[in-house]
Amino acid sequence: MRIDIITVSPELIKSPFEFSIIKRAIDKNLVEVHFHDLRTYALNEYGKIDDYQFGGGAGMVLMIEPIDKCISKLTSERTYDEIIYMTPDAPTLNQQTANTLSLQENIIILCGHYKGVDQRVRDLFITKEISIGDYVLSGGELGAAVLCDTIIRLIPGVLGDETSALTDSFQDNLLSPPVYTRPSEYKGLKVPDILLSGNFPKIEEWRNEKAFEHTKKIRPDLLED
Ligand code: ADE
Repeated sequence: MRIDIITVSPELIKSPFEFSIIKRAIDKNLVEVHFHDLRTYALNEYGKIDDYQFGGGAGMVLMIEPIDKCISKLTSERTYDEIIYMTPDAPTLNQQTANTLSLQENIIILCGHYKGVDQRVRDLFITKEISIGDYVLSGGELGAAVLCDTIIRLIPGVLGDETSALTDSFQDNLLSPPVYTRPSEYKGLKVPDILLSGNFPKIEEWRNEKAFEHTKKIRPDLLED
């Protein structure tokens, strides 16, 4: 899989790709991530990429020309399955979207900034819009990093144990059950006996029960689907 990220702040988004599971996925060539500084495609030598909005109002808007140049260069080199725009006024990211995107070959992620992008960018180029939650970030970069993390960990071979992504919270609309490790007793708090029993069908049953109880308490909305 190849991910191209278009941003006005490449430095802001790079570090999540330099550690842990995501770095290993890149090192193993399971995913390629490329960062494109929108200023490289600026209109003039002062790096102009934004302007005031027509009709008045606070905040700058990213202009269409630099974005067009960058996206057109990428799409002239290969075909993209999705061109995604990170913005708060979009459907919220969920596990289903991450699962679907992890099956794609090439995707572009455009990070919004300031007041966002000229609407014509969305009309002309964008095939999917994603928000990471009902709050406003200073730009789309942190959202793009979150999106990439959820996608990359699902690519086969990225997680050591293939089943571990399948048992994540949300994969079956349930939150995860509690997990424990050694010691089996700490300051009087005991690990539930069932987990030490070696009876794996019963353990599975217990985990499902706990996952259901936990979801009902914390996120009943997930059970409505
Ligand atoms: N840019 C600003 N806020 C955002 C959000 N909540 N999700 C995605 N991109 C954003």
